[in-house]
Amino acid sequence: MIRSLYALAASTDAGAPADPGFGVYVHWPFCLSKCPYCDFNSHVRGGRIDEDRYLAAFRAEIAHRAALAPGRKVRSIFFGGGTPSLMRPETVQGIIDAIGAAWRLEGDAEVTLEANPTSVEAERFRGYRAAGVNRLSIGVQAMNDVDLKALGRKHTAAEALAAVKLAASLFPRFSFDLIYGRPEQSAEAWRRELAQALDHAGDHLSLYQLTVEPDTIFERLRDAGKLKLPDEELSLALFETTREVTAARGLPAYEVSNHARPGGESRHNLIYWRYGEYAGIGPGAHGRLVTPKGRLAQETERHPEMWLTQVETEGHGVVESAPLSREEQGDEFLLMGLRLSEGVDPRAFEKLTGREIDLARVESLIEDGFLECDERGRIRVTAMGAPLLDTVVADVAA
Ligand SMILES: C[S@@+](CC[C@H](N)C(=O)[O-])C[C@H]1O[C@@H](n2cnc3c(N)ncnc32)[C@H](O)[C@@H]1O
Ligand code: SF4
Repeated sequence: MIRSLYALAASTDAGAPADPGFGVYVHWPFCLSKCPYCDFNSHVRGGRIDEDRYLAAFRAEIAHRAALAPGRKVRSIFFGGGTPSLMRPETVQGIIDAIGAAWRLEGDAEVTLEANPTSVEAERFRGYRAAGVNRLSIGVQAMNDVDLKALGRKHTAAEALAAVKLAASLFPRFSFDLIYGRPEQSAEAWRRELAQALDHAGDHLSLYQLTVEPDTIFERLRDAGKLKLPDEELSLALFETTREVTAARGLPAYEVSNHARPGGESRHNLIYWRYGEYAGIGPGAHGRLVTPKGRLAQETERHPEMWLTQVETEGHGVVESAPLSREEQGDEFLLMGLRLSEGVDPRAFEKLTGREIDLARVESLIEDGFLECDERGRIRVTAMGAPLLDTVVADVAA
């Protein structure tokens, strides 16, 4: 059957979106405190942050990227962090305006901002809405105080729920994040907690299995035997419970960790996963821009103050900007696309790389239960393959 993958895809409309679109990611690198599991580019500063200076630097970065990739229509803007809900609404407004002036916003552009329940004030939320934010993504993480404490969070479950309710009353769309696979968490406890979370869900939920990242406090605790995490069998059970409960409640998985009502998917993240084009603005932001030099992989300076100085002296914070080979693009395309429930169209891989997917390898990964192929000839990762995605992609792409 796999031998006819291309024939199958060619005989159907394989469901590939015509244009994955263009998005802008904006990174705000500050938090009130550092969570012990987190390895995002987030920094704690005692003093006041000079937001006017940062806004001027964000504007310079936007102008720099617009000169590299002019004339795009922006489908989505995403303020991620760090904790973007620590920004003044005026700063958010200034950035959205600069993006709209440098490019053009699609009429129904999605504008998302990540909010942490420790920095919620109704006035501030109203300010974001007035600035043009139309989707809020809240870091709830757990629905009970004991686990919130174990995760090092500075808010209670009641505060998180209040933030969710406020978001629901002010924004047309909202999402919230939970982390599961916590120390001592059973599948039954997670099932109950997830059901409770779904009672408050809007059109989207991000449900991440806890990963122990390098150089975090959680890594040190685990290595010292002080953090008991689920074994492989329990991890799989938790993942499958997540899929089952969310699907039954109308928010099936559309990506390994993301769940939505049909139409409620994050348009921003779909740009990444469908291998579209995006500009990364701010400290430690990544971008992929299609230019006459090819598809550029860009990275900016991670350290906030060093980024600021570089932008002020050079007009941009980019420290890496290199065209990707067709092979590298093929790897990235698979790494992103196989995560999606819609999977990848083998013809799109062929178009991008100039070569066919290795069907023998795909077939063997299907036989081993890591990949599956749908009736349209699209391939995607299975529940068993999801935690091993990097290895699976390396195998397909080798
Ligand atoms: C960039 S964080 C920012 C969100 C916001 N600062 C907050 O903490 O509420 C985005 C999400 O990644 C998830 N996350 C971060 N580190 C993680 C880890 N080690 N394992 C699993 N999920 C993680 C959390 O759910 C978090 O809400
Ligand atoms: S999880 Fe969120 S609040 Fe905690 S350190 Fe990371 S970015 Fe900051």
